[in-house]
Amino acid sequence: MIDRQRLAECHAAEEERFVADHPRSAEMAAQARHSLLGGVPMAWMTRWPGSFPLFFDHAEGARFTDVDGHEYVDFCLGDTGAMTGHGLPQVADALARQARRGITTMLPSADAAWVGEELTRRFGLPAWQMAMTATDANRFVLRFARFLTGRPKVLVFDWCYHGSVDETLVTLGPEGRPVPRGGNIGPQVDPALTTVVVPFNDVAALEAALAKGDIACVLAEPALTNIGIVLPDPGFHDALRALTRAYGTYLVIDETHTICAGPGGATAAWGLQPDFFVIGKTIGGGMPAAAYGCTAEIATRINALISDKSIDTSGVGGTLTGNALALAAVRATLSSTLREDDFAHMIPLAWEWTEGVQRTIDKYSLPWNVQQLGARAEYWFCPPPRDGAAAAAAVDSELDAYMHLFAINRGIMLTPFHNMALMSPHHTLADVDLHSEVFAEAVATLLP
Ligand SMILES: Cc1ncc(COP(=O)(O)O)c(C=O)c1O
Repeated sequence: MIDRQRLAECHAAEEERFVADHPRSAEMAAQARHSLLGGVPMAWMTRWPGSFPLFFDHAEGARFTDVDGHEYVDFCLGDTGAMTGHGLPQVADALARQARRGITTMLPSADAAWVGEELTRRFGLPAWQMAMTATDANRFVLRFARFLTGRPKVLVFDWCYHGSVDETLVTLGPEGRPVPRGGNIGPQVDPALTTVVVPFNDVAALEAALAKGDIACVLAEPALTNIGIVLPDPGFHDALRALTRAYGTYLVIDETHTICAGPGGATAAWGLQPDFFVIGKTIGGGMPAAAYGCTAEIATRINALISDKSIDTSGVGGTLTGNALALAAVRATLSSTLREDDFAHMIPLAWEWTEGVQRTIDKYSLPWNVQQLGARAEYWFCPPPRDGAAAAAAVDSELDAYMHLFAINRGIMLTPFHNMALMSPHHTLADVDLHSEVFAEAVATLLP
């Protein structure tokens, strides 16, 4: 439906406007290219639309201001890392207090037990450890699962994302063979040695894979959130839990993004029963912090293992992991935000955002869909997909880039490499309405 010539012309006009509006960011980007790979401190920052990234000056609540003085409604929120909103005073105060009292001692601080108890209260599992990132937490859990089961492999769903964990940077290749996900730099080994991949929502393929008896754990998001939002079919989670139990495979639920479903994530909202649970990004209010939890039965077995003084470098943990600053941030965050009341504000905003996008999809009868999961919503350029491959087939990088750049030029930031919007407790209905208008305007420019 989209005329590519017209799309290219519209994009060029937006790019011109972007460059004209952001001279200071352009200058900083040019300077950064002298010393930083790609001109940025982390590769993903090259992925924004526009010929250079915006440099931000300050961020507060649901907004940030760039170095040229433009303010944006931020629906990206650091791709979930700042879902609480930016610059929370309670987190800033806790960080300042703790920083003056010492950051890294490799000793537990007074916040440690509070954090463990709060994680149990929210997510249900009784025993916890910290990590710095969700990637690390997933890596540690995979080690425990392999150790406890004595099995070599991990099962993931096609087009999942669980961080830069080697075993999971895999998609389903021809004849069901796992292949390195496109763009994956330097895979350690042939992923077929470590990983089994099945389509999301495919119970028969899941059972066939588990029946081989070599899978230590299934690592799953409750809904796929990294290839658009792919919701589970009714009954899919019941089948997943029953089959993993039947075949002696641990179930690891990664709630790093699906915490958008509520204060206890989809696990609490949907009554899931994971053996291991992983959460990162949000829990530190923007500070790097992650955690993983396990059942009492697993805890009994791991407790003995991690307290064994004959074990030297176990492959689990890390020098700065569980540092006092991270724990202070987690305590300040979980005690003051992402609570029931906050979600009661955030989730209706995500409904409104979804409805706003749907109105335009309906108006032009576009073959697109918009999905919502709690405080998160996302549009995608195909009918609602049932699995990751269907969603991946609809990726349209040109259209993505245009929609994002059009939005940025009008004061709205969406998550790059998604069309995702996340609501924080600080967003307002006016922010959402602005997006609905800008989305409608962007689509109108492309259609006859
Ligand atoms: C579901 C999920 N798990 C884990 C991660 C990894 O998080 P991090 O990059 O903070 O390690 C991500 C990142 O997007 C994610 O979406």
